Order: sequence, then C-alpha cells, then structure tokens
Amino acid sequence: MQYLEIFFYLLFGLFFFSFVSLAPWIPTKRNDLRRVNDIIKLKSWEKFLEMWCWTAKVSLFIAKNNPDAYITWIELSLFFYVISKVRIFFSWLDNIKIIYGNALKLDLEKYDVLYVFGLPETITNKLFPKINSVKNKNFRLVSYCFKMTNDYFKEIKYKPENRFAIYEYKL
Ligand SMILES: C[S@@+](CC[C@H](N)C(=O)[O-])C[C@H]1O[C@@H](n2cnc3c(N)ncnc32)[C@H](O)[C@@H]1O
Repeated sequence: MQYLEIFFYLLFGLFFFSFVSLAPWIPTKRNDLRRVNDIIKLKSWEKFLEMWCWTAKVSLFIAKNNPDAYITWIELSLFFYVISKVRIFFSWLDNIKIIYGNALKLDLEKYDVLYVFGLPETITNKLFPKINSVKNKNFRLVSYCFKMTNDYFKEIKYKPENRFAIYEYKL
C-alpha cells in the first residue's frame, strides 16, 4: 500500500512539474499543422525537434510528411510520454523518436529546426539563452502563437486573417 501511495505521489509530482514548467496546456490547432509544415520546409537530411510535445500531434504530422527527415520530440510528463510512445508504435513510422526528460536540459546543437508552443516569457527568458549559442548556421526556431523577444535572430511573422500567428527565427 505504501509503495502504491509513493508511486502515485511520484506520478503526480512529475505531472505537476511539467504543468508548471513552460508551456500553455493546449496543443497546436489541427488545422494549422499544414501551415507549420509548410513554414518549416524540412530538407531530407534535416533534424527536427519538438520541445514540449503533449500527444505528439505536430511531430507525427511532420514525420508523415517528411519521411526522409529525422524527427525527435521531448516530453517531461510521464503520462504524455507513454501516450506518445504508443502513438509512435501504431504509426509505423521509422523516422521518429521520443525522449523522456526536461527539454531545457537537452543539447540542441545537433538539431536544425526547433518547434515550440511555449509562453512568451519561457521562450524569451529560458529558451533564447540556449539557442543563442547554437553554432549550426541552418538552425531555425518556429514558435506557434507567441513571439520571442530578442535582437539576435531575424524574425518572420506569418499571420493570415483569423488564424494564429506563427513566428520563424533564423540567423
Ligand atoms: C502546450 S503542450 C505542447 C503542445 C504541443 N507542442 C503542440 O503544439 O501541440 C505543453 C507540453 O509540454 C510539456 N512540458 C512542459 N515542460 C516541459 C519540459 N521542461 N520539458 C519537456 N516537456 C515539457 C508538458 O508536459 C505538456 O505536454
């Protein structure tokens, strides 16, 4: 009984930590997935990373539409990690993998494209200092809805009428 309680407290702790960590608790809208894919324009050899993945909707869409690119996503909530693992298994895609852990501790050097749906303070104060030192000249960040305040990357804003903004940042 005691072990069961500890297990549930642990599970709740992990769930809570991921909740307060960085991002709004809503996913990218389904009818924006094509727009995101078109803005990202992944080349076949490129490596894509989605930080804070939820149920992996975005990464699965990108993986299906870019079968020669490498797709990774990282999730901190054990609950969503397990759901995403199951979704990968049943997708039968072999260009995709998931990492369980804290996205802000990941080494970003090997990725070409980073996709986030994070709060403006998170991406400006926590993410920018990390990507600021990435040496890959092809590197770009795509941020759904929210702007990252910085004077290092060139910002392109995509905002059709009645749709959310998508921001692209590149050198
Ligand atoms: C807004 S949802 C992500 C939505 C998804 N990217 C999309 O656009 O559909 C936020 C997710 O980030 C996860 N998360 C929060 N902090 C994290 C961290 N430090 N590292 C990895 N994942 C984190 C939460 O568990 C949650 O599943």
